[in-house]
Amino acid sequence: MPGLKALSVASEVFPLVKTGGLADVVGALPGALAAEGVEVRTLVPGYPAVMAALQDRQEAYYFEHLFGGAGRLWSGRAGGLDVYVIDAPHLYDRPGGIYVDADGQDWGDNAIRFAALAAIGSGIGRGLISGFAPDVVHAHDWQAGLTPAYLHYAGGRRPASIITVHNIAFQGQFPAHLLDTLGLPRSALAIDGVEYYGTIGYLKAGLQFADRITTVSPSYAEEILLPEAGMGLEGLLNQRQGVLHGILNGLDTAVWDPETDALLPATFSAGTLERRGANKAALQARFALEPDPEALLFGIVSRLSWQKGLDLVADSLGVLLDMGAQLVMLGAGDPVLTERFRTAAAANPGRVGVQIGYDEGLAHLIQAGSDALLVPSRFEPCGLTQLSALRYGALPVVTRVGGLADTVVDINEAARSAGVGTGIQFQPVTASALHSALRRTAALWRDRPAWRQAQRNAMACEVSWQRPGAHYARLYEDLVAERAA
Ligand code: ADP
Ligand code: GLC
Repeated sequence: MPGLKALSVASEVFPLVKTGGLADVVGALPGALAAEGVEVRTLVPGYPAVMAALQDRQEAYYFEHLFGGAGRLWSGRAGGLDVYVIDAPHLYDRPGGIYVDADGQDWGDNAIRFAALAAIGSGIGRGLISGFAPDVVHAHDWQAGLTPAYLHYAGGRRPASIITVHNIAFQGQFPAHLLDTLGLPRSALAIDGVEYYGTIGYLKAGLQFADRITTVSPSYAEEILLPEAGMGLEGLLNQRQGVLHGILNGLDTAVWDPETDALLPATFSAGTLERRGANKAALQARFALEPDPEALLFGIVSRLSWQKGLDLVADSLGVLLDMGAQLVMLGAGDPVLTERFRTAAAANPGRVGVQIGYDEGLAHLIQAGSDALLVPSRFEPCGLTQLSALRYGALPVVTRVGGLADTVVDINEAARSAGVGTGIQFQPVTASALHSALRRTAALWRDRPAWRQAQRNAMACEVSWQRPGAHYARLYEDLVAERAA
């Protein structure tokens, strides 16, 4: 269907502002859909970093009253994307994080900061701006979750709506008394409205009213139907199972390309794997690890949170070190985990290296220089770091959950004889299962030809946005055709 237009509504977008994989996906989706003939524009809040990057801006709308202040909507270009930016200083122009203040506390007005995002997303969907009338409004996660609800309650003609769940653990629940402030009708505070266990649930609202629900891997789409992973929303998801789809994320293969990556000391390909050694040496040097090419080097690039299961790695350090392996960890988040990893590094100089913080360049070096990437998540909607690991020839060692289960082929006997394994999977998510996964990894490492074969298998995996882009485009087309019928 040529000429399809979509508005993507999101609270973060790479390369402008990012706290996790959500930004990567929102940043890559427009390009993936452009390849399918779909024109996508992205609506984002005007945080300082976004305002600074905005170019060729033109005022698209002026709001005299936007949740407690005046605001402007700019259209323009930023980070290589066509964007609409909400310039509302009273909501977004502040230091600190995009969701939290300098002390790590959620901003007290997040309810209205992200209601404004959704309200404007809905407004653009309903023709607020001349010159861009989207056929599809695509909301991401709880921050954009009210978009389908605003579209619904506005009544009248509206575009098709989709919500993508990137992580159901974050649901955006706010006090019911905000209903009027949010401009929602009294009737919305009901089980078939935005009400969620006595609160206003932003993600719940999106799941209730979107025409289609997607999540970022087929396995996660099944897992969230069950109480353990559905986190309270499984009932609604079961009701709406007919419109729920799992579409695996892709990787931005222009950003993550070992053959051209300017952030690496040495570029390489599956045909020149020996060149990878220079990256391993640079990584060991960076963390003052013993410069031993034979030591099995595990890498981690992650948010530090319960989801990611890194406490299990901290618990298993003895096993890892007894095998003669090394570990580098780049991450930020939970203070208790931060302290545990810092202590581990201090106690094991030359063997364990830890950097706390966010560092794009180091993330690339870890993917290109470590032998294996650890992703022991308790749940993982998709996960992107195992995709870059595959592409960079770092064998992913992952739990068999969500997108990790869908993207890594366990190197078991059958996979070995068929020559198709790309990493190590384990379950359940326990320290003892991790121990055996570490031992299996070490055994494979000792069989260097088998290791090399697995690296080549991994690097040959199709992890780009090509397939997912086509999948989203088909979903948009089907939805638009269905509504036109
Ligand atoms: P999540 O979104 O749950 O954090 P993903 O694996 O989907 O997990 O995406 C994480 C993204 O953030 C990847 O692009 C990864 O490289 C990046 N990342 C995570 N932690 C860091 C860090 N400390 N420094 C640099 N990049 C990081
Ligand atoms: C979330 C999930 C992660 C996923 C990312 C992008 O942050 O935790 O698994 O890859 O969103 O969809």
